[in-house]
Amino acid sequence: MLRSLFIFALALLVEQGARAQGDLSSTNNVTGLAGTWSSNPSVSTGGDFCIPAEMKFNYPNNTGISYSFTDTGFFEEAQYRYTANASNPSCIQATIFWQHGKFGLNDNGSITLYPFSSDGRIQVQDPCAATTNIITYYNQQTLYADWGITIDQSTGNYRLLLNRFDGAKMPYMFLTARPPNMMPTQVLTGANASGQTNSRKRSVMDISLFKRSAAPQRRSLSAEMGILAGLVGVIGSVLGLGLGML
Ligand SMILES: *[C@@H]1O[C@H](CO)[C@@H](O)[C@H](O)[C@H]1NC(C)=O
Ligand SMILES: *[C@@H]1O[C@H](CO)[C@@H](O)[C@H](O)[C@H]1NC(C)=O
Ligand SMILES: *[C@@H]1O[C@H](CO)[C@@H](O)[C@H](O)[C@H]1NC(C)=O
Ligand SMILES: *[C@@H]1O[C@H](CO)[C@@H](O)[C@H](O)[C@H]1NC(C)=O
Ligand SMILES: *[C@@H]1O[C@H](CO)[C@@H](O)[C@H](O)[C@H]1NC(C)=O
Repeated sequence: MLRSLFIFALALLVEQGARAQGDLSSTNNVTGLAGTWSSNPSVSTGGDFCIPAEMKFNYPNNTGISYSFTDTGFFEEAQYRYTANASNPSCIQATIFWQHGKFGLNDNGSITLYPFSSDGRIQVQDPCAATTNIITYYNQQTLYADWGITIDQSTGNYRLLLNRFDGAKMPYMFLTARPPNMMPTQVLTGANASGQTNSRKRSVMDISLFKRSAAPQRRSLSAEMGILAGLVGVIGSVLGLGLGML
């Protein structure tokens, strides 16, 4: 009897903890959002994580995610993640992407990221797909339903948690730089880039393939990545066929 009461109380505690974590609005004023935040020191915005004009990524030594924000409304996002394949454990997908642009703090406590559409890049490596390693354009407007900055008890560092629109929690990120480490906060490639002509033409892999409306944004990251990987695979085979015919 005592034991089951204890377990019940424990369950209540866990439940409340989970709920408190979901509603971050009251905690997000501990310090400002401006700065660079990283879940792992090996992944950071800025630097040479991505060179969009060269369609190139420099792979970090470790997976992780990183976001930077400025007081003037600019953001940058860098992610390098593995996605397990439930049906085949040896088919682990590696996804690396980068984008930057403007962000808005909405009245209801959410954050929306509005990327510069010509600059974002993504590469999916899938050992089980027909073709891997293709880099394509990436432009994913993202809504974070709420966010909060707390102080980590063990390290005393500021810690940022973003909860995505669909309820997915991003890994905790620690403040690693203030002011933030970022690429120039302007359009870097494509027609809108100033003082720079990008000779690369968009081809079959135009990002419009990946554009989608608000509703499918609810899909989980892994589902999104699955679809992206599928598209990349299809594009890869089309390209492969084309090359074979030459
Ligand atoms: C921080 O708190 C102030 C006063 O309560 C509020 O006006 C402001 O919107 C908050 N800032 C953020 C980013 O939530
Ligand atoms: C990755 O690790 C190697 C060897 O430890 C080191 O030389 C290199 O600087 C690291 N790269 C990054 C991006 O941290
Ligand atoms: C919060 O505001 C954003 C921007 O206006 C909107 O897209 C989103 O649907 C809102 N979320 C809720 C739960 O109302
Ligand atoms: C790029 O240029 C187009 C057309 O001139 C414009 O509609 C668009 O808003 C520009 N994008 C950015 C990010 O400046
Ligand atoms: C999982 O692996 C299978 C092959 O075993 C592959 O057909 C499928 O596309 C993979 N799924 C994802 C999401 O990569």
